[in-house]
Amino acid sequence: MTDEIYRASTTAPVNIAVIKYWGKRDPKLNLPTNSSLSVTLSQSDLRTHTTASCSPSYPSFDSLLLNGSEQDVSGARTQACFRELRSLRRNLEGQDASLPKLSTLPLKIVSENNFPTAAGLASSAAGFAALVRAIANLYELPSSPTDLSRIARQGSGSACRSLFGGYVGWEQGKEVDGSDSVAFQVAPESHWPEMRAIILVVSAAKKGVSSTTGMQTTVATSSLFAARASDTVPKRMKQMQEAIQIKDFETFGKITMMDSNSFHATCLDTYPPIFYLNDVSRAAIKMVEAINAAAGRIIAAYTFDAGPNAVIYYLQENEAQVAGLFKAFMGEKDGWKGTRGDAIQASEEAF
Ligand code: PMV
Repeated sequence: MTDEIYRASTTAPVNIAVIKYWGKRDPKLNLPTNSSLSVTLSQSDLRTHTTASCSPSYPSFDSLLLNGSEQDVSGARTQACFRELRSLRRNLEGQDASLPKLSTLPLKIVSENNFPTAAGLASSAAGFAALVRAIANLYELPSSPTDLSRIARQGSGSACRSLFGGYVGWEQGKEVDGSDSVAFQVAPESHWPEMRAIILVVSAAKKGVSSTTGMQTTVATSSLFAARASDTVPKRMKQMQEAIQIKDFETFGKITMMDSNSFHATCLDTYPPIFYLNDVSRAAIKMVEAINAAAGRIIAAYTFDAGPNAVIYYLQENEAQVAGLFKAFMGEKDGWKGTRGDAIQASEEAF
């Protein structure tokens, strides 16, 4: 091999769950206690752009640069992704001796998020999805998005859903090795292109309790949790997929809000309790309720991940009543704008 640099780039968008993943049955493999479902934002919206390269001329260690700053790659999650991808490449190299031995070379990963880092939005999903696909492209692996979702899941659970566009499920699976815990596409983005999301940046601060710690404490202490995992979520997974298939926004919205509430209820039921929502989050919930009451039906749906930032789903035809009202109320400060969704900055004083 010469000192050639091998390189491949890709992008992966953020996904926002409407049926939440919360609870791991295997923390090492990131195997969940329930299936989940999300909407992947458009490529032009919040996304991570990643270039993976390798070369005999590189220093002899793997490296990852995120938004210009060096990241630690020694963590078990990142290592699991590197290991799986290298092993697939090694198989290819074993079958075809003419292939360069890229699996033996140090990797250099360079990632950029196109949204303000200060927005405090969960980026690990897009980050790991982009990292895994960039390396898979670099290694010219014949892997399908399903195969890659199995690997990205080990980086960050929710990352497996960002390997697909549109409406995406993550099947919890039954196998102990996680081989059937993969993402699948419920419908492409083009199936329901009127869907919009507005992201209300309530706080740019890092979340107080990490999702991994939070999930483990919830599983260990919450009595609400078992019923959510075994009964509530399986029913909702079915209803949600049907609602998406027939483009029934009222059902989509109602399940989205109820599932967010259910997830945050298990957080409150965790001991010691976990509070991700704050007063601004609760004011946003009230505002959505008021919008829906004025419309006489559900035209807006809120959902919150492990933090106070609200994501509001609505259909384009209701842009003025939903996004217009939120923007008028809070003003557009340090916002981020995309084609599928906007992010607007809310402050504690806004309400
Ligand atoms: O993938 P993680 O470990 O960052 O966990 C994500 C958990 C939630 O965002 C709260 C829910 C979800 O399904 O994305």
